[in-house]
Amino acid sequence: MQSAYGDEESDPPSTSGVNISTTPKRNLRQNDKYAEWDEIDTIHAIESALATRHNVSLIEADENVFENLRDEKPQIIFNIVEGLNGVSREAQVPSMLEFLQIPYTGSDPLTLATCLDKARTKEILSFYKIPNAPFFVIEHLSQLANSNFDFPLFVKPLHEGSSKGIYNSCVVRNEKELFNEVEKILSTYEQPVIIEKYLSGKEFTVSMLGNGKNVRILPIVEINFDSLPSDVNKIYSYEAKWIWDTIENPLEIYECPAKISLSLQKEIERICLQTFNVLRVRDWCRIDVRLDENNIPNIIEINPLPGILPNPKDNSCFPKSARTAGMDYDEMLCTVLDVACERYGIFS
Ligand SMILES: Nc1ncnc2c1ncn2[C@@H]1O[C@H](COP(=O)(O)OP(=O)(O)OP(=O)(O)O)[C@@H](O)[C@H]1O
Ligand SMILES: [Mg+2]
Repeated sequence: MQSAYGDEESDPPSTSGVNISTTPKRNLRQNDKYAEWDEIDTIHAIESALATRHNVSLIEADENVFENLRDEKPQIIFNIVEGLNGVSREAQVPSMLEFLQIPYTGSDPLTLATCLDKARTKEILSFYKIPNAPFFVIEHLSQLANSNFDFPLFVKPLHEGSSKGIYNSCVVRNEKELFNEVEKILSTYEQPVIIEKYLSGKEFTVSMLGNGKNVRILPIVEINFDSLPSDVNKIYSYEAKWIWDTIENPLEIYECPAKISLSLQKEIERICLQTFNVLRVRDWCRIDVRLDENNIPNIIEINPLPGILPNPKDNSCFPKSARTAGMDYDEMLCTVLDVACERYGIFS
C-alpha cells in the first residue's frame, strides 16, 4: 500500500527528498498561501495509521509522480493529493492513477474537479433541487455595475478550499464593501469570484464514510460561533480556523454531536446523502451545511478530500466526528482504505 501526498512549490524549502515544509503550523498559517497543504505531521500520522495493517510507502506528488507510480505499481494508493496547478489540480494525480489502472481511495477526477468549482457544484445541486444559496460568478469588477443587490451577500474565491480567501470581510452589507471584497479576491487569488446570498443560520459539517447503501453518516458537528469574538461575523473564516484557534488557546468551536432536533438531523442527513450521490462521491467526504433564514439546511460545499489533522487538540472536523462515533484516527483511516478496497473488490 502506498500513499501519495501533495506538495506545492518548494517555498519554504524542504531539507530532504520530501518536498513539504516542516515550518511550524502557526508560522505557516499567517497567510493563507499554504492553507491546503498537509503538514508533515499529518502525512506521518496517515502513514503510521495505515502501517498498523499494511506495508506503506510514500510517493510524493511532484513532477516525477507519473514515473514513480508506474514503476512502483502499488496495490492501492491512499490519495491525499491537493495538487499544485490549476483548477483541476486535485484531479490530476487520480487521472494518472486511472490511466495506469492503479486503484486509489476517494473520489474520481470528475468529482474532485467539480467540487473544487463551487459554482459547477451548485449547478448540479440545483438541478437535483438540493437547497443551496442563490449565486452568481464574476470575472471582472465591471460586471458589478448597474446591478441591484439584496444584501447581505457572501463573497469568496471560486476555486479554493481550506478557507483560502475566507475572511471576516467576506460578509458584505453594501455596495462599497462588495466592490472592495470582490476587487481583493480577484487580485489576490487571480480567479473568478462567487457571490452568494448570505445564509444567516446555524452551521454544521457532516462527515461521511462508505459507498452505496453502506454510506455511514458520522455524528454531525455544529460550528459554535459563540466561541468567536463577539464583534465578528458568524462564519467559519480563515481567522477562526487558523489564527484565533491555537493549540495553546483552543476555541471551543465544535459541538459534536450537534444538539439539534431529530427532524433537523434527519433533514441534514437526507440532503447530504443526496449530495454524496448526485456528485458521485466515493469512500469519504465532508459536507458543509448552513441554515437559511427559514431554518432550511442548505449545502455550502463538498470536500471530497477532507482535512484530517491527527492531534485531537487541533480542531479538525472529520477526525472529531469519527472520535465521537468511537473510531480513533488509525481506525478511521484504515476504514477509508477498507471501503475503497471493497469498492474495487480487493481483499487483503
Ligand atoms: N453563502 C454563505 N452564507 C454564509 N456563510 C457562508 C456562505 N458561504 C460560505 N460561508 C462561510 O464561510 C465558510 C467557508 O466557506 P467554504 O466552506 O465555501 O470555504 P472553504 O475554504 O472551501 O472551506 P473548507 O475550509 O471547509 O474547505 C463556511 O464554513 C461558512 O462559515
Ligand atoms: Mg468549507
